[in-house]
Amino acid sequence: MTAATPAPTTSNFLRACRGEPVTHTPVWLMRQAGRFQAEYRAIREKVGFLELCKTPELAAEVTVFAVRQLGVDAGIIFADILLVLEPMGLRVTFEKGDGPVIHDPIAGAGDVDRLTGEIEPASLGYVGEAIRAFKRELPTVPLIGFAGAPFTLASYAIEGGGSKQYIATKRLMYEDPGAFSALMERLSTAITRFLTMQIEAGADAVQLFDSWAGALSPSDYRRHVAPHMKRIVSTLPDGVPVITFGTGTGGFLEELAASGADVVGVDWRLDMADAARRLPGVTLQGNLDPVTLFGPVDAMRREVEAILSAARGHRGHVFNLGHGILPGTPVDHVRALVELVHELSAR
Ligand code: CP3
Repeated sequence: MTAATPAPTTSNFLRACRGEPVTHTPVWLMRQAGRFQAEYRAIREKVGFLELCKTPELAAEVTVFAVRQLGVDAGIIFADILLVLEPMGLRVTFEKGDGPVIHDPIAGAGDVDRLTGEIEPASLGYVGEAIRAFKRELPTVPLIGFAGAPFTLASYAIEGGGSKQYIATKRLMYEDPGAFSALMERLSTAITRFLTMQIEAGADAVQLFDSWAGALSPSDYRRHVAPHMKRIVSTLPDGVPVITFGTGTGGFLEELAASGADVVGVDWRLDMADAARRLPGVTLQGNLDPVTLFGPVDAMRREVEAILSAARGHRGHVFNLGHGILPGTPVDHVRALVELVHELSAR
């Protein structure tokens, strides 16, 4: 008789998301598959980034490799937040060195009508296939699906790429709030369909990346973003933890929790003890400064201890960085971080 394989639902990661007791604090890292790994760079010498995302066997392979190499408690499916913009009607390319480019960006109300929210989930079926391939390879490891949150996606769709000041995005928001809201609604519909498809394919939890939400004032976030986040969270299937993540959101952290998410991600600009005091009802995710990984392991150890102790006794804690692993980060230090979290948090 073979022993039953433990289901991901009993994993420390999902238990922490639900606020249940754990045997150690689970840890995964944003961008745990990426350019800091020689093996990833070797694959990227042969295939372009979009091709990698759209080839399920390869996307699953880099996802699995990161879990095995780093010893993390969860995988995150290899994909990108901008992929959903393609079936909505925008053309997305990734130029070497320049980051993503969205061609013919949204300039006003007329352009919003060019976009559809009612995407056919099959148009992103390659992400579902990659999720299934991961599950065949690592059936006991919880897998996180993800999408961009509507504000961060709107900023790319309007600016045409990355931005520092988000002037075009905010100008549309102030000049034509109806058009901005229509854009956010279409994005939210597409995001919900995309995440539901990922859950049906086997994702155990989903994360909404609102990386640039911290560019907004608390009142603009409340008025122009929060209602859409609530709608997405409430429309997703029950029983699958939802994580929201943003950077620079310390000024309106309570708003992120009000979305109904089970887990709220925090970046390193906020003390974990502060976040824990302010959000007693949700699990927290974070919040080591990714640049700590460039320094000596001793210095990292002090920071890890401080974060773990600030979160001790809280409803739940998923250890992570405050933002993604940066290219050039020593792989040894990333592995040391995962071991440190496990060792220092063992109950
Ligand atoms: O391991 C994982 O975290 C899963 C894979 C993942 C990628 N992008 C792969 C990727 C995830 C979760 C994302 C999310 C994503 N994509 C976000 C939100 C998270 C964040 O970093 O704030 C954003 C804003 C994007 C959009 C995006 N994709 C940008 C701005 C860039 C270029 C900048 C950069 O880091 O190169 C990308 C490209 C990208 N997405 C890479 C990877 C591994 C690098 C591509 C390469 O191989 O050259």
